Amino acid sequence: MQIETVGVVGCGLMGHGIAQIAAQGGYKVIVSEADQGALDKGLSRIEKSLAKLAEKLVEKGKKSAEDAEADAAAAFGRISGTLDRADLADCDLICEAIVENLEVKNELFRELGASVKESCIFATNTSSFPVAEMAAASGRPSRFVGLHFFNPVQLMRLVEVVHTDETDEEVFAAARAFGEACGKTAVSCKDTPGFVVNRLLVPYMVQALEMLDRGDASKEDIDAAMQLGCGHPMGPITLTDYVGLDTTLFILQGWAERYPDEPAFGVPAILERYVAEGKLGRKVGEGFYDWNADKKA
Ligand code: CAA
Ligand code: NAD
Repeated sequence: MQIETVGVVGCGLMGHGIAQIAAQGGYKVIVSEADQGALDKGLSRIEKSLAKLAEKLVEKGKKSAEDAEADAAAAFGRISGTLDRADLADCDLICEAIVENLEVKNELFRELGASVKESCIFATNTSSFPVAEMAAASGRPSRFVGLHFFNPVQLMRLVEVVHTDETDEEVFAAARAFGEACGKTAVSCKDTPGFVVNRLLVPYMVQALEMLDRGDASKEDIDAAMQLGCGHPMGPITLTDYVGLDTTLFILQGWAERYPDEPAFGVPAILERYVAEGKLGRKVGEGFYDWNADKKA
């Protein structure tokens, strides 16, 4: 099952990273966005990230400046952007990274299922929704997997590869090989809420937000406690800013609706308040922290 051309739908926080690592893995990449502003922003983020990674390789003496710049330019050259999803018709694999809304994702896969060549593998980067439901919407459930990358995609080394009851074994193996060719370690997961990482991580973030809301400790102290007491690279409040408060809320609202009896999936009131105020986290400059004042953005 040969994958040469990869489509990425959505070029936000996750989509730009997925497009980048696929291009760095040698694939030709077509990125589809909803509007020109979002596409330009995503492509510019990729360019900056490639330049940063090239700079690090030179600093560490792993590549000459000439080679590092040439490789970054070659990777960027493999990426093209489009606002017309018809341009994805000949892709061998399409990975979706749009808003965490099941109806919107299902609608996208219905459209792709009707317009993209039959051999194409479909993948969703969903954080929390059942992969099988999007697979059913696409009309080709045997060619559908979850490819759950982590933020920031360029630096996090894991991809969870999710199979449903209907995923074809060869499709699963090809998707896993794709993740590995993008430089990630792949773990196999069943189609359960949050797969492995988010099933453990998101309830932990919820507990930290509840703690903050109760006034048990300041956000700085909660973060410092988990960094210094448990060796986490960042504390849970910073991490929520990093993931995006809107995305975290969408994950939890989806779970609360679907699994009302699961106490680990509560929706913290503080999260709803911040999202209502437009404080969506690092991506907009403000969440629990002011990223222009408290943190280097
Ligand atoms: N591209 C290129 N370079 C990047 C980059 C990117 N996207 N992001 C950061 N860098 C660079 C930085 O500029 C920095 O370079 P300098 O040293 O020259 O300044 C370098 O990489 C290291 O970055 P930091 O200084 O921020 O250093 P760090 O050691 O704190 O590492 C981190 C950053 C890898 C993000 C680390 O803090 C970390 O692992 N945090 C936890 C992240 C995490 O848990 N992610 C999972 C979220 S949950 C999820 O993704 C699933 C979901 O569905 C919600
Ligand atoms: P984001 O808001 O940063 O980006 C979403 C992008 O999708 C936006 O640029 C938007 O313009 C675009 N978009 C929306 N609808 C579209 C459509 N129909 N066609 C084309 N583009 C469209 O969100 P994100 O954080 O990148 O999250 C994307 C997905 O990845 C979600 O399913 C999320 O749960 C998942 N995810 C997020 C994280 C994280 O830490 N943020 C980690 C892993 C997985």
